[in-house]
Amino acid sequence: MTDSDLLDPWPSDAERASEGSLRPRKLDEFVGQARIREQLGIVLESARRRGLPPDHLLFSGPPGLGKTSLAAIVAAELGVGFRVTSGPALERAGDLAAILTGLEPGDVLFVDEIHRLPRAVEEVLYPAMEDFQIDVVLGKGPGARSLRLDLPRFTLVAATTRTGLITSPLRDRFGFSARLDYYVPADLQAIVTRSAAILGVAIDQAGAEVLARRSRGTPRIANRLLRRVRDYAEVRADGSVDEAIAEAALELFEVDRLGLDKLDLALLRVLCERFGGAPVGLATLAVSVGEEQDTVEDVAEPYLLQLGFLQRTPRGRVATAAAFAHLGIEEPRGPGAAPAPGSLFERDPE
Ligand SMILES: Nc1ncnc2c1ncn2[C@@H]1O[C@H](COP(=O)(O)OP(=O)(O)OP(=O)(O)O)[C@@H](O)[C@H]1O
Ligand SMILES: [Mg+2]
Repeated sequence: MTDSDLLDPWPSDAERASEGSLRPRKLDEFVGQARIREQLGIVLESARRRGLPPDHLLFSGPPGLGKTSLAAIVAAELGVGFRVTSGPALERAGDLAAILTGLEPGDVLFVDEIHRLPRAVEEVLYPAMEDFQIDVVLGKGPGARSLRLDLPRFTLVAATTRTGLITSPLRDRFGFSARLDYYVPADLQAIVTRSAAILGVAIDQAGAEVLARRSRGTPRIANRLLRRVRDYAEVRADGSVDEAIAEAALELFEVDRLGLDKLDLALLRVLCERFGGAPVGLATLAVSVGEEQDTVEDVAEPYLLQLGFLQRTPRGRVATAAAFAHLGIEEPRGPGAAPAPGSLFERDPE
């Protein structure tokens, strides 16, 4: 059995710092998510034609799928400034007020992890988003007075991995929300090919496809695997990557054949081994793998659902026949559920 930190969807600090070079800069460099790209393209084009900043935008979805990249693309496409902050960085209302009053007209203000915005700060954001105004309180105690300030028109672009934690008054103030979903292998293959060109790594299509299938549907992981496969190719071969080199490298780095990470595999083992395919409630499942319920639901399950390894039923989570097969465990209850129609591996029995 394999498991590897290479498949962790969250980046290390060093990785976050080095992600810039591989980030798509314009909408047409952004691979995949075709529907979102088209919708966003229309929103931006119409704003350009009207000569006004677009409505506020919310991007949600699991880590590493391109939310920050899209936010930067919005600013680049509009040719406006890009200011970056995050929910946890905005501790007090004054922190946000300082940023808002420093904006230039039309700027994009990117608030990452907006679900972690303290409530008092969120309340400053409401009138800022809606009326481009904020109330600042001057002084303390009985002498304190409140002053209303006009802000330049700006576009808030917010990102979250946890849509469920966003309050409805906040959610209602976004004119466009998009949920990014895991990438299909063909898109990841295109991302690997693009990144390899930027990094100067020679990789053929079959090599790129091996990486694409093991990247957990996540561009960040695809780029990380590419770097490790490049290392392997340089040390053990002539530096270029083909199918055999990619497979040997990922074998060495213990990357699961389908890109399942530790948590994914732990969940499948609990479902298949401990519960033998019987339905398991989310709370029980989370305790069994020692994880937060939210992480199980928001980060691990969407990928397992997409692979067709897991089903959500009214009585709980159930592992499919494909899950038993992947773990190499005999399924106790006879023929189980087939992968869901349209799931990634429906047409790929291997
Ligand atoms: N559609 C895409 N096309 C090409 N590269 C992409 C795409 N989406 C993401 N990437 C690559 O993946 C990396 C991670 O993307 P990004 O930082 O935008 O993800 P995120 O959704 O903001 O993640 P997090 O939730 O951890 O903040 C980027 O550096 C970029 O190289
Ligand atoms: Mg991000």
